[in-house]
Amino acid sequence: MKIRMGGETRELRTLWREGSVVKMIDQRGLPHRFEIASSGDHRETADAIRDMVLRGAGAIGVAGGYGMAQAALEAKDLSLGEFEGYLEEAAERLKKTRPTAVNLFHAVDRCLAAALSGSMKERVEKVEAEADAIAEEDLAASKRIGEHGGGLIGDGFGILTHCNAGALAFIDLGTALSPIRFAHTQGKRVHVFVDETRPRCQGARLTAWELQQEGIPYSLIVDNAAGHFMRRGEVDIVIVGADRVAANGDVANKIGTYEKAVVAHENGVPFYVAAPRMTFDMKAETGEGIEIEERSPEEVTGMWGLDDEGRQRWIMIAAEGTPARNPSFDVTPAKYVTGFITEAGILRPPFGESILKAFG
Ligand code: MRU
Repeated sequence: MKIRMGGETRELRTLWREGSVVKMIDQRGLPHRFEIASSGDHRETADAIRDMVLRGAGAIGVAGGYGMAQAALEAKDLSLGEFEGYLEEAAERLKKTRPTAVNLFHAVDRCLAAALSGSMKERVEKVEAEADAIAEEDLAASKRIGEHGGGLIGDGFGILTHCNAGALAFIDLGTALSPIRFAHTQGKRVHVFVDETRPRCQGARLTAWELQQEGIPYSLIVDNAAGHFMRRGEVDIVIVGADRVAANGDVANKIGTYEKAVVAHENGVPFYVAAPRMTFDMKAETGEGIEIEERSPEEVTGMWGLDDEGRQRWIMIAAEGTPARNPSFDVTPAKYVTGFITEAGILRPPFGESILKAFG
């Protein structure tokens, strides 16, 4: 993605691997502070996923794969039996960080499978190659999603999106934002309504920043305003990402997605979910069994912001001791989804059949 800083433009991925070191854009400081964070071993990579130094289903998946490559390099001088035990433990550690985005589980399992046959040298090389392949697949899928989804966007469209399913949620380009980027590049006039996405404000902090970097017109709106704009006919299409899609088309995504889908349905606005193969979980028959991450109540009772001297500050919104609940994701039933924008094309209902045909 293009990062414009002080008159200079840099082209960067969200995360990348330099041998045993994983580098990533530190998303906690954005949009006010731009920093690259480094992780020197798989434990630090697990911490980075848990602490949301990076976030978004695609980026979490790639980080999981890179963490496994780091673990393989850390264990290369052990016996074969010890190597396998070390990699299994690393896989568990990485998978325990965040429970909802299935990309993480797919990536870690693929790398673990690569670690279980061949000589030590072959095993290490295979794990590294698998981790790098996952990153390249992520980028290729985002590009194809942009091409397929771009055709759904007409000239002059208002587009509503939730959370951040952009370049920062993947290696680059993203899913929900990729068709928007594509349509903009084709010269279509678009206007993006960006939900702020409380409590962590990924829309306000990350999506708005990405669109600003690309020069794509947008308005930041509070989460509660989405229905208002849909009812007034200012939104022609809703495009969101996903953290996990069940085999029947139920979608787990950032908290608030369900409400947007219901309001879109009520107002006859098409509701599309952009997601790569790695986000589909054919083992989950429906959305019922998907684990929903519950994060700290403090994210609800307070928030980060910049003070007038440019310092990042934590501020309290609610009274000290206010009890709060903080589910990070919700499940949107498949009946509210118009279609899935995937690297294999647009999947239409009945989703049980179209998903199985594309990814079964
Ligand atoms: O908690 P986050 O920021 O990791 O949640 C991200 C989202 O919910 C995105 O919408 C989702 O991952 C789809 S884009 C990969």
